[in-house]
Amino acid sequence: MARNVGVLISGRGSNLQALIDARDRGELGGVIAVVISNVETAAGLDRARRAGIPTVVRDHRGRTREDYDDELVTVLRERGVELVCLAGFMRLLSPVFIRAFPGRILNVHPALLPAFPGLDAQEQAFEHGVKVSGATVHLVDEGLDSGPIVAQEAVPVRSDDTAESLTARILEAEHRIYPRAVRLLLEGRCRVEGRRVVVEGE
Ligand code: GRF
Repeated sequence: MARNVGVLISGRGSNLQALIDARDRGELGGVIAVVISNVETAAGLDRARRAGIPTVVRDHRGRTREDYDDELVTVLRERGVELVCLAGFMRLLSPVFIRAFPGRILNVHPALLPAFPGLDAQEQAFEHGVKVSGATVHLVDEGLDSGPIVAQEAVPVRSDDTAESLTARILEAEHRIYPRAVRLLLEGRCRVEGRRVVVEGE
């Protein structure tokens, strides 16, 4: 796989920062070729600019999902992107997008999937009273947080946790596993067998 990565964000961009930091340490295994945001004021755009990464803002408002996604695909292809990383991108992708990058879109989710898909996963897990939650990096398919799992890290829930403290520890786990998962993909070390992602050498 070519080593160009495109990152899609909508907000804070702490996972983007984890990818940038891994790149700076020579541990990402690739180049972040472009950061795209659907929100002009996303703080993650400043992180990208500080890191010398080209940024593109495309507002989704007033456009059909397919039309918008088609434009994102064009931008990513122009930059030679082979692997797309969703990092707090608050939009569902249409089949137009997913079929343009088959098996080459990653997402990070703040729960141990398949438990607690969707929004506010940390709060869902906390309110449910689970003793262990965590973070998941998965390939994106046409469902909601339903694609094959590449990496997970468990985060125990402490008796004195609040939803906020749990969220903060899960975020640290996200920042550890996302760059590693990206590297595995870029190095061609992942083979998808049905729902299972088999990682070479693990
Ligand atoms: C993270 O919790 C991620 O798991 C979820 O959205 C949040 C994005 O945070 N998909 P950030 O923008 O990377 O800081």
